[in-house]
Formats: sequence, structure tokens, C-alpha cells
Amino acid sequence: MEALQNTLFLDACKRRPVERTPIWIMRQAGRYLPEYRAVRANHDFLSMCKTPELAAEVTIQPVDIIGVDAAIIFSDILVIPEAMGMHLEMKEGEGPVFDSPIRNEEDADNLNQIDAYDNLKYVLDAISLTKRELNNRVPLIGFSGAPWTLLTYMIEGRGSKNFANVKKIIYNNPELAHRILYKLTDAVADYLSAQISAGADAIQIFDTWAGILSPRDYLVFALKYVNQVIEKIKRNGEPIIYFPKGVHYRMRTTADCGADVIGFDWTIDLTKTRDKIGNKVAVQGNLDPTVLYSEPNFIRREARKVLEAYGKGEGHIFNLGHGILPDINPEHARALVDFVKEESSAYHLKEGKNIIAS
Ligand code: CP3
Repeated sequence: MEALQNTLFLDACKRRPVERTPIWIMRQAGRYLPEYRAVRANHDFLSMCKTPELAAEVTIQPVDIIGVDAAIIFSDILVIPEAMGMHLEMKEGEGPVFDSPIRNEEDADNLNQIDAYDNLKYVLDAISLTKRELNNRVPLIGFSGAPWTLLTYMIEGRGSKNFANVKKIIYNNPELAHRILYKLTDAVADYLSAQISAGADAIQIFDTWAGILSPRDYLVFALKYVNQVIEKIKRNGEPIIYFPKGVHYRMRTTADCGADVIGFDWTIDLTKTRDKIGNKVAVQGNLDPTVLYSEPNFIRREARKVLEAYGKGEGHIFNLGHGILPDINPEHARALVDFVKEESSAYHLKEGKNIIAS
């Protein structure tokens, strides 16, 4: 197998010196791109996920159009509950909906045990095909939802304001929550291992709803299971990124979860965070996604603040603090990527690569 041409992202994940800061954008394959909307006009979202040729095509679009340093496979975190037997519908204007959410032991027992090579083979095929079509230009990131975030969706059935249903279950029937979390931990680990075998160069675990938990419950219902997933999938050193959105507390414990990289949203101070955990893990983030609504000059000013907040040296992967919004002008995303590519070398030793090679 030939070597990757752009290893900046993988090097930064391992806190190796790089000549500039790598950048990719969460949700970079999506509706803000006219080229994505053109494909989507003829296919529903789940069919796109389940057709490797289409998934590969939209995965590669932001590499060509925006110039990011890594691709992320086009799919969704909700393919796991779907594979477990829950009926998933993408409702226009609302997002993903499970019409029969899980509310009791019987619903939980009806969830199928999944085998990634069987039930989620279409994602593995999309990864192999995308790797071939990328032709080693940039690495490919695989991903999954974290057990906690998947549980939240499976119990709420849709996005939620107060998360009343999942909270009722963790407070009134924690045994049920843990029973499903155990099942999900196995499914997520099996699925991510299969993604690595299919060619994913790195893995991101999205814990979008980690921040709705109290600091103690975060340890009990979220981090504990992420620890187990990482323990099960660590093999040949493919970098693992954990993104616990909204988590301001337990930074040191989070940094000990076994991941190589922790992703942060824009409400986190990267300087303080790096001081606390930067000798253990790399840091990904964290420009406010809504900054991309502004003009390029403002975007560059705000992006510089993120580079400055992290400071000089290895271990930073530039990203937004959450996914790119669907009504962002792609030119603005490109302005951000161009700026990080040009400006960030000032934050690194020029000969960084040579130093490590010698
Ligand atoms: O990052 C990428 O480009 C890869 C693709 C990707 C998608 N979803 C495609 C998608 C990834 C990594 C995800 C993860 C995901 N999905 C998360 C975790 C990250 C996050 O944003 O917090 C969550 C919570 C979901 C669940 C989900 N899927 C929601 C809430 C929605 C609706 C909101 C929206 O943006 O429409 C989706 C649908 C979805 N997933 C779309 C895309 C491109 C839009 C579907 C469409 O084309 O209509």
C-alpha cells in the first residue's frame, strides 16, 4: 500500500511536530455545498448512506472543493440504532426521528445484537471505496456516536430540549439505561473495529449530548462506556478522537479516557485546557461555527484567535466547535481553510518534520 501524501492530521493527532496546523470541518460533507445538494436532489439521505458510490462521492467533495486535510466518511451516527432494528426516518425540516423510541425493558430486549460485517457492511464498503478513490491524498476518518449519545436519541426518538425521557430513565431506572449502554458499547466497538479494518485511518467518537449530564453522571453514563469502547478498539495505533460536546468539567479524567485527541466546542478556553491536558492528548477545535456567517476578514481574525489560544507547538487540529451549518457560504469555509494553511506555520517549527526524522 502506498503512503499517504498528507500526514499532517495523523501527525498532529499523535502530537508529532508538523510544519503547519491541519484542518478539517465537522459535517464537512453536507448541505452547505451545492455539489452535495445536487446529489441529494435525486436520493434520500439514508439511500445515500447505503450506496457506497454516492457516499464516497460526497465524502470526497470537501477535499476537492474546500481543501481540508482529512476526509470523514459520509454516514450518520444513527445507523447503529437503525441496524439494531429501530425504524429511522429523516423528516424534512425536523431531522432524524425514531417513531417508536425505547421506553421500557421490553423495547430494550427487542434490540438486535449487530454484526458490523453484516448489518453495517454498506458503511465498510463505502470506506474501502472512498480509500481507493482518495488515492492517498488525505487520510479518512471513520466515526460513531458514543453509547450515551446514541442512548439519548433512542430514548427521546428525536432532538430534544430538556431530555426529559432519557433523564427519567437514568434517574428512575438506571439498570435499564446501563443494560442498553452495555449493548451499545459492544455494537460501537465492533463497528469501529470493522471501520479500521476496512481502511479508516482515524476514528472520531461523537458524544454530542455528553454536556446535558451533571459532572458525576457524565462519568457514570458517558465516559465509562467511552473508556470501554476505546479499550476494545485500540490496536495498531490509529488515532482516536473523543468529542464530548458541552463538557467543561472533568477535563483531566476525560484526557485519561484513552483517546489520542479530545475535541472541544467553542465555549472552552483552549489555553487553559491545553495547560491542563496538553501533555497527554492532542486538542481539536474550536471556532464557533456561526463565525462562518461573517465576512472572510472577520473569519480570519477569529481563526487567528483560536491559533493563538492554543499557542505554539504540536498537538492542535483546527476544526469548528461543532458541525458546519447548512446555510454557510462555501467560500467562507474555503477562506477559513486557506487562512489556517497560510497562517499556522508561524505556530510550528519549520523543520518540525526533519527534527523527528533525524
Ligand atoms: O461530518 C461529516 O461530514 C460526515 C457526515 C456526518 C453526518 N452526520 C451527515 C449528515 C456525521 C459525522 C454526522 C454525525 C451526526 N449525526 C451527529 C454527531 C455530530 C453532531 O453534529 O453533533 C448527530 C447528532 C447526528 C444526527 C443527525 N443526522 C441530525 C441531528 C441530523 C439532522 C440535522 C441536520 O443537519 O440535518 C442528521 C442528518 C444529517 N447527517 C445530514 C447530514 C449531511 C443532513 C441530511 C440531509 O441531507 O438532509
